[in-house]
Amino acid sequence: MEKKRIALVTGGTGGIGTYICRELANKGYQVVAGYYSNGNKDRAVEWQKEQARDGYDIAIAFADIRDYASCEACIDGITKEMGTIDILVNNAGITRDTTFRKMQPYQWHEVIDANLSSMFNVTRLVINGMLDQNFGRIINISSVNGQKGQFGQANYSAAKAGIHGFTKALAQEVARKGVTVNTVSPGYIATSMIMEVAEEVRNEILKGIPVGRFGAPEEIARVVSFLAADESGFITGSNIAANGGQHMF
Ligand code: CAA
Repeated sequence: MEKKRIALVTGGTGGIGTYICRELANKGYQVVAGYYSNGNKDRAVEWQKEQARDGYDIAIAFADIRDYASCEACIDGITKEMGTIDILVNNAGITRDTTFRKMQPYQWHEVIDANLSSMFNVTRLVINGMLDQNFGRIINISSVNGQKGQFGQANYSAAKAGIHGFTKALAQEVARKGVTVNTVSPGYIATSMIMEVAEEVRNEILKGIPVGRFGAPEEIARVVSFLAADESGFITGSNIAANGGQHMF
């Protein structure tokens, strides 16, 4: 039997990440869900059991994606145990929403470190394995708010816009080696991250979404698995929006 391709999904146990893991497992990949959860392994193990109950065999691996050494330990472990990572989905991300005039330095740095510097930390550690084998898929999860900006999210919008700059530069460097690098920009997806936004603000946002609803995480997972496919080798440096029409360009 041909060896299964290995996919690492950072933030794999989260709102969108869970569905990316499931979709990639459905497509026959061997999936590893990266988790942080402030080091709470029990929560990740519980998540893993839930997936198993639903018929999904998904490995879990701890990393603090803000920290290069932590990512190195994580990726070394996966590589030794399973082999070279073929598909990387840089999905983990956080919000620290507040208007800019109230934003504290720690709120800026937490978001830039977790959402943007993580792109360097994780990708840097998998890229040479992909180049050596002449195949790789890197899929970076940005946001509609990186494209249009969002009131209360100067930190998040900056980090998410930065992601696509990273995608475009790296895509050029690795294109000849069978490695594609793309961005997916989800709109407002019905996960706990969105439910943290005050109800009246959320309702206002909903009014600006032409399809008239928030997205489902499966609708993002579908785009990711499309880009991950062996057959998607001509798509690189692109930014695919899935936002219900909230932002068109
Ligand atoms: N445009 C213009 N003015 C606005 C506004 C907007 N969108 N929203 C609020 N304001 C105004 C208010 O009317 C108010 O004005 P007055 O003082 O004149 O009454 C003022 O701004 C409020 O300013 P404050 O500093 O007091 O802000 P706040 O504490 O009330 O709220 C906030 C700040 C919590 C960040 C709020 O703006 C908010 O929740 N924004 C939405 C953030 C958001 O969309 N987050 C998405 C999270 S999910 C995600 O990020 C995933 C993804 O990728 C899509």
